[in-house]
Parts: sequence; C-alpha cells; structure tokens
Amino acid sequence: MQHNLLFLWPFLSLLQVCNVGGASSVLNGTVGESIVLPAGVHGTVQAKLLQWSENNKVIIQSAKKRVQVLDQRLEGRVTMSNETGDLTISSLREEDSGKYVFNGVGSPSSESILPKEVQLHVYERISKVQLDSQVKNSTNSSSCSVTLSCSVLGGSQVVLSWSRDGQRIAGAEKTITLTVSPSREELYSCTASNPVSSQTERVTVPPCQTHDIAPRPGLSVCELKAVLFSVGLVAMVSAVIAVNVRSVLQENQNQTRTRTRSRAEWKSQDSPTEEEEEGL
Ligand SMILES: *[C@@H]1O[C@H](CO)[C@@H](O)[C@H](O)[C@H]1NC(C)=O
Ligand SMILES: *[C@@H]1O[C@H](CO)[C@@H](O)[C@H](O)[C@H]1NC(C)=O
Ligand SMILES: *[C@@H]1O[C@H](CO)[C@@H](O)[C@H](O)[C@H]1NC(C)=O
Ligand SMILES: *[C@@H]1O[C@H](CO)[C@@H](O)[C@H](O)[C@H]1NC(C)=O
Repeated sequence: MQHNLLFLWPFLSLLQVCNVGGASSVLNGTVGESIVLPAGVHGTVQAKLLQWSENNKVIIQSAKKRVQVLDQRLEGRVTMSNETGDLTISSLREEDSGKYVFNGVGSPSSESILPKEVQLHVYERISKVQLDSQVKNSTNSSSCSVTLSCSVLGGSQVVLSWSRDGQRIAGAEKTITLTVSPSREELYSCTASNPVSSQTERVTVPPCQTHDIAPRPGLSVCELKAVLFSVGLVAMVSAVIAVNVRSVLQENQNQTRTRTRSRAEWKSQDSPTEEEEEGL
C-alpha cells in the first residue's frame, strides 16, 4: 500500500502546482465550534486517493477506504467524507487558521478532480461588551463632559463602532473611549464585531448641565430664545404677584385702620396717639 501512495505522489505534486487557484474560497470559523471545508466535488468522489493538506503538509488522507490523520494537532478533531471529500474540523482553535488544499488522485474517468483551496480564518466569539459613562465637571463648574468607555470581553480581531441616536459616528472606529458634552439627552451605543460575532451596548447620556445660569458662549439662538423667554416669564409672574400682594396688604391695612379707628372712637376721643401712629 505504501508503494501505491508513493507511486501517486508525483501526480499529486503536479496537480498542486498546476491547478490551485481555479477554485478557492474563504471561510470564517469560530473557536470551539466545527466547520466543514468543502472539497468542491459534485456528486460522489471517484478517486483512489483523497488528501487534504495545510501549508503543503498532508494532514489527512483516505485510500482504499482507510482514513489516516497525519497531523497530531488535528488528531480526534478531523474527519473526511469518503463520499464527497469534505473535511470537517471540530473544536476549532485559532491556530487552525491557514490555507487548506484538497486533492483527489486516480479518478477512473478521464477528467481529473481539480484541487480545491480553502482559506480558513478562526476567530474567538465576542462574549460581552460593556459601556460605562463618567461625568466630569470642570473645576470652575462652567462646563462638563461625559467620558464613555467601551470594553470588550473575548473575541479576536475586534472592530468597534460608535453611534449617537442611531447615527454612526465617523472616524471613531479605533477609540475605546469617547468624550462628549451633549446639551440634550442623547443615546450612545458601542458595537464590537468580528467576522463571527457582534454585540452592542447602549447608554443614555443626560444633558451635561452647567452650574451657572448665564448663557455660555456656545449657546444657540434657539437656546438663547428659550432662556430669554423664561426670564421674561419669571419677571411677568413676579410683577403680577407683587401687584397682588400689594393690593392684599393695602386691603388689610385699610381694614385694620377702620377697625382701630372705630375702636378708638368707641374708647374715647381724647387719645390722639393711636391716630398719629396709624397716620405714619
Ligand atoms: C465510505 O466508507 C464506508 C465505511 O466507512 C463504506 O461503507 C462506504 O462504501 C465508503 N464509500 C465510498 C464511496 O468509498
Ligand atoms: C473654566 O475652566 C476651563 C478649563 O477647565 C477654562 O477653559 C474656562 O475658561 C474657565 N471658565 C471660567 C469662566 O473661568
Ligand atoms: C469572512 O470574513 C471576512 C472579513 O474578514 C468577510 O469579508 C467574508 O465575507 C467572510 N466570509 C464568510 C463566508 O462569512
Ligand atoms: C456635576 O454637576 C452636576 C450638576 O450640574 C451634578 O449633578 C453632578 O453630580 C456633578 N458630577 C460630579 C462628578 O461632580
């Protein structure tokens, strides 16, 4: 049997050199899960020898219904279908990433089986994304800022993206912290993704308030109008209250005056002191 395989080797080498590139694909696998690398054969494969190699090293071969795993790293984690030639790798590891090539040799029909190349990338799934916010008031309390920090647990080759009220923030892909100073309530989200997973966390940021009521330099016309309107309203209400209070006081005073006067009249006519006090 060994002799047979050696006899076939020159054909294999020839095929590898000549035909790779005709059919190739890219697959993304997930750490811990399994993946099928298709041999790209239509129907049942008819060949004396089926082989999968990685980086030009044979990892598994099937000849005369006997399957041999030749790579210790893949021992117990790899199977090849003798029907289709498809390769199944289970319990994937990141180091399984690489270029895999399928070859079938000794086809009874005149047409030979074309080698199939599969580029496998294995990524770790993102397990969790956390979005924290921290408010920072400046020492003189004239301004404040909110720092958002996005942290990712697990995952390989992770890319971040940020959005504000559902709109993607351009140019923030490489930052894990974002400092903002919103004038109204805003919804921020951080999305972590890689080719095999994606997770999003959201946080509502309240308006970043200032301690002083005086309009800031950055105040918009709309805000300014609102402030002026509020001030006007307060002034108007105050004026109305003041007028009411005064009239009430006056009424009270009049009543007291009348009462004291009548009392004074009733008491006696010869004590003008009270009358004088009232006049003041
Ligand atoms: C594949 O292998 C099984 C045994 O493992 C055998 O029964 C079957 O005939 C084989 N098929 C081909 C096409 O060689
Ligand atoms: C408040 O402090 C900031 C720096 O923290 C400064 O830029 C700003 O001019 C200060 N404002 C006032 C009113 O002092
Ligand atoms: C694998 O991931 C790459 C990005 O790295 C992507 O362009 C490609 O479409 C993915 N392939 C599949 C089959 O999901
Ligand atoms: C910042 O100022 C706001 C009021 O404008 C206050 O509610 C908040 O607690 C302050 N935050 C810190 C960290 O000092």
